Amino acid sequence: MNSFELYNPTKLVFGADKIGQLGELVTPYGKRILLVYGGGSIKSSGLYNDVLYQLEGIGAIVHELPGIEPNPRLATVNKGINICRAEKIDFILAVGGGSVIDAAKAIAAGALYDGDVWDFTVRQATIQEALPLGTVLTLAATGSEMNGNSVISNWETKQKRAMGSKLIYPKFSILDPKLTYTVPANQTVNGIVDIMSHVFEQYFSLTTDIPLQERFAESILLTVIENGEKALENGSDYDARANLLLAGTYALNGTLPNGVSTDWATHGIEHEVSAIYDIAHGAGLAIIFPNWMKHVYKERASKFVQYAVRVWGVDPNGKSDDEIALEGIEATRNYFTRIGAPATLGELGINDEQLDRMAEEATKYGPIGSFKMLSKEDVLSILTASL
Ligand code: NZQ
Ligand code: ZN
Repeated sequence: MNSFELYNPTKLVFGADKIGQLGELVTPYGKRILLVYGGGSIKSSGLYNDVLYQLEGIGAIVHELPGIEPNPRLATVNKGINICRAEKIDFILAVGGGSVIDAAKAIAAGALYDGDVWDFTVRQATIQEALPLGTVLTLAATGSEMNGNSVISNWETKQKRAMGSKLIYPKFSILDPKLTYTVPANQTVNGIVDIMSHVFEQYFSLTTDIPLQERFAESILLTVIENGEKALENGSDYDARANLLLAGTYALNGTLPNGVSTDWATHGIEHEVSAIYDIAHGAGLAIIFPNWMKHVYKERASKFVQYAVRVWGVDPNGKSDDEIALEGIEATRNYFTRIGAPATLGELGINDEQLDRMAEEATKYGPIGSFKMLSKEDVLSILTASL
């Protein structure tokens, strides 16, 4: 096992109707609030009114930044930064999915930085301070509610890049499974795929003798596989939604990578596809991940054998390691297809025109990944298999 440090300061407030605690959670951070949200789902669900009621209850002065796009854009983040500076905002409240939370984090860091917030994504600057932020999560997917990452798209340069810092962890996140009842089927599917992909990035590792980390990862996968289908059958199944929500948080809150070398190549590749075609992150992952698996499994087939047997119940008797591993990969593909995720880039209207550019961008700073280090040619081959 590798040495590691674990840090996570986010207070999770989980359960039905926990929105009633919002006022007291915000109170220590000041009265001037920037409320950040997306395209309107919080208005149609009634959550917007509940949030305002809570903020009015503590005498808050509320400024709003609506319209955060899925795949949030730098230009919109800059609008938020300007509001924070002009209105002397004390605290940022993100109400929505991962995109809204990521935008709020970038605003929090950018508001106290003299340069361009994009600098943080291209490692030209490190976040030194940030406004405090909190979240009310409405979609099980990214884990952004309990981590220090933010992924922003620069639409002008067609780049999608991440920034990260311990200073942009949410101070608190309210997770009420009932707030996810209204998530449509396609976004539920994207969330399921994203959660599973976060586990894959940390599970397919060359680090050996890590039974606890492996079983944590497998338990999250099994929980998502079972409860994902239940949530799709009945969107208002409280337990299914609750199990998905918690799985999403644990998949990317720093629990899984402890002592383990992690990969993240597939996320890097997907971000290049989203950066150009603005597709949903989960949809891109559903297409690319099984092809990444096929491309790399021989590096350590035993890990894929374990995955196939423990997660998908593949019967190993009388089969070679390759056969078992490939059955597990096939089971992954079939599950994604069964729940309605796309299998090819072609289904999303994407052809081979930009593949070279994507592979080039993904490997701009050198090979990516760690289970297998991927060169530009490797990335191109995975993207080509995904067409
Ligand atoms: O904008 P609104 O109207 O709120 O609608 C959203 C949006 O259209 C809708 N939605 C959210 N909650 C809903 C709902 N609709 C009905 N009822 C609800 N309760 O869902 C749509 C998608 O929302 P979005 O926030 O974009 O989805 P997600 O949470 O999957 O976030 C995706 C973004 O997060 C990044 C992705 O790259 C992408 O930009 N990621 C962030 C990570 C992180 N910060 O750690 C890690 C991930 O790997 C990922 O890269
Ligand atoms: Zn992801």
